[in-house]
This record gives sequence, C-alpha cells and structure tokens, in this order.
Amino acid sequence: MKIAVSCDHGGLLLKGPVKESIIAHGHEALDLGTHGPESVDYPDMAVKALELLVRGACDRAVLICGTGIGMSMCANRMPGVRGALCHDGYTARMARLHNDANCLILGGRVLGPGVAQDIVELWLATPFEGGRHLERVRKIEKIREQTTQASKGEKRST
Ligand code: RB5
Repeated sequence: MKIAVSCDHGGLLLKGPVKESIIAHGHEALDLGTHGPESVDYPDMAVKALELLVRGACDRAVLICGTGIGMSMCANRMPGVRGALCHDGYTARMARLHNDANCLILGGRVLGPGVAQDIVELWLATPFEGGRHLERVRKIEKIREQTTQASKGEKRST
C-alpha cells in the first residue's frame, strides 16, 4: 500500500520510526513533512496527507502531532476519511477490525517509538471484519450527508 505520512513539530520525532515500520512491512511511505523542528500549524500538515487520501492518490494516511487530537479533528472532517487516534495495540487492532480506519493518528508527545511502531504494524496488518460493522461504518458517512443537507436547508431559509 501507499501510505501518506505527515506530522507537525510535535510529531517530528515519531515520523522516522513510523516510516521505518511502514517500509519494513513492505509498504511505501510518502513523506509530506514537516522536516524540521520549527513550529508549523497542524491543520496545514494534516491536509497535505488527507488531500492525497481523499483523491485516492494513496491508500491510507498516518498523521502525527503532539497529542494526536488536533490532527484527528482534521481527519474526521474529510469525506470518506475514518481517522483513529490510537494509543496502544488494542485500539490499533480495533480501529481496523470494527472501524475500517483508513487514517491512523498518533501523539508524538504521548507515545514512545516502540509503542508507535507496534501500533503501526497492527494497523497495517489487521483486516476489517465487515459484517455488522460495515453497516455502522456506512452510517458514519450518512451522518455527514444528512448534516450537510440540513445546514444547506438552514441557509436557504434565512
Ligand atoms: C503543537 O504544540 C500542538 O498543539 C499540536 O502538535 C497538537 O498536539 C494539536 O492537537
């Protein structure tokens, strides 16, 4: 798979180990930065990888900021992106089995490199379970469609 990877300054230290794991498991890592310790805005960095994911120019994305929270918020605003902020092997495995997460988010100031690599490996290797979870995952996108329609309706009536 082609995996887009982006981080802000808070995630920079984890980016190397994350890319190592992706490559060691036979996948391609597209490094979209940031490349230095200077402060950058996490939404700008998240969007670099998320745009590729939304366009289908990569199969999955990994985003890393200090806590993982800001980048999770960005990921879950994008159509078709199911972003999972994972802290351990269990959340990484469940994010694939039940949520079919196509975007993994990590906290660079929360996790050490060893735990982050375990998370990446599990997230890459675990398949989606499908079945009852498929309908639930479809409902996530339906929420988005319904709220978009509702907000368009509100604008028309004002
Ligand atoms: C940057 O200091 C920090 O706010 C960012 O990396 C992230 O944790 C945001 O959610």
